[in-house]
Amino acid sequence: MALVPEAIGRLDGFDVVVESGAGVEAGFSDESYVDVGAEIGDPWSAEIVVKVEKPSAEETARLRDGSVLIAFLEPLSDAVGIERLARQGVVAFAMESVPRITRAQSMDALSSQATVSGYQATLIAAERLPKFFPLLMTAAGTIPPAKVLVMGAGVAGLQAIATARRLGAVVASFDVRPAVREQVESLGATFLDLGVRGEETAGGYATELSAEQQAAQQRALEQQLPDYDVVITTALIPGRPAPKLIPAAAVQAMRPGSVIVDLAAEAGGNCELTAPGEEVVRDGVRIVGLTNLPATMPNHASQLYARNVIALLQHLAPAGKLELDWDDEITAGTCVTNREELAA
Ligand code: NAI
Repeated sequence: MALVPEAIGRLDGFDVVVESGAGVEAGFSDESYVDVGAEIGDPWSAEIVVKVEKPSAEETARLRDGSVLIAFLEPLSDAVGIERLARQGVVAFAMESVPRITRAQSMDALSSQATVSGYQATLIAAERLPKFFPLLMTAAGTIPPAKVLVMGAGVAGLQAIATARRLGAVVASFDVRPAVREQVESLGATFLDLGVRGEETAGGYATELSAEQQAAQQRALEQQLPDYDVVITTALIPGRPAPKLIPAAAVQAMRPGSVIVDLAAEAGGNCELTAPGEEVVRDGVRIVGLTNLPATMPNHASQLYARNVIALLQHLAPAGKLELDWDDEITAGTCVTNREELAA
C-alpha cells in the first residue's frame, strides 16, 4: 500500500482519497484511513496518484491529463507502459529512478523494499532447509551451524547476512564492488575473494562484468558452492538481465537438501535453473525463485514505502501545492515521461 494511515497523519495540505479495501491485506482497514481524515472513494481522478506497482492500460486511461503519478514504473524495462503514460499526459515519477544522493535517501524505495526482501529471503531459506541454522549442543549430540553464502552484498544482501547471523548461521558473502568488504565483515560474515573486481557507478551500482570476468567468477564459485547449505543470491545490474552466477553444473555439485533463494528471479535469476515466480527442486537442491517478496510482508513493507512516498510527495508538492522544479536533480531525475512534450 502506497500510503498508510500513520503517514497520512504527517501530510499537511493534502486531501487524501483512498480506494475502498486497498489497504485491507496489509492490515489497514478503510476505517483506519477515515480516522486520519482520508476519504474513501475514487482515487483515479486525483491531481496526484500514488501506487505501488505500475498501472494497467485500463488504469492509465482513468488518469487525468496533467496528473502526477508516483509508483514503481519499471522505466528501464517497460517502454510501452511509460509511452502510454506520456500519451495520457501523465507526469510520471518512477520510484526506481530516485537518484541515489544523500538528499534523496528518505525517498529510496528500492532500498526500503530490498531490506524486506533480504530479511524474507533468509527466513524462507531457514524454513526450507532440513537443518538447523544455529550451532546446537544437546544431550542427543552436537549440531554444527548451517553455512550460508550470500552473493551480492547490496542492500538486500546485507540484510540477508544480518538475518542469517542472528539465526546463528556461519555466513560468507562476496560482491564485485570491493567497497562492501568492510560492511560484510562488520556484520560478522566472511568476505570471499573470488579474484574478480568490477566497477562501481557514481550512484553506487555495479556495472556489468566482461564475459571473461563472468566465466572466471563462475569457475571460482563452482569450487566453493558444495560447502554451503544455503545460497542467497541478490546480484543485479540496473536495466540488465541478472548476471548468471550459478550454472546448472554447480547446482548438481551441491549437497541434496541445500537451498538456493534467488532474489534476482525477477530479472531472470542469478542461477541458471531458477524458474521466476516458482519454487523447484533440481538434482535434490531446492531453488526458490519467488518474486515480489515485499508483498509477503505487506504491513511493514507498506509502512516503509509510505515514508518514501511521503518524502517524495513533500518534495514535489510542498504543503500540498505542486511545484515541479525541473532544475532540481530529484524532480528531473525521477520523472520518466517527456516533460518538453507535455509542456507543448
Ligand atoms: P542492486 O540491487 O542493484 O545489486 C545488488 C548487489 O549485487 C550490488 O551490491 C552489486 O554490486 C552486486 N552485484 C552485481 N553484479 C554482481 C556479480 N556479478 N557478482 C556479485 N555481486 C554482483 O544494488 P543495491 O543493493 O540497490 O545498491 C547497491 C549499493 O548502492 C549499496 O550497497 C550502496 O553502496 C549504494 N546505495 C546508495 C544510496 C545512496 O547514496 N542514497 C542508497 C542505497 C544504496
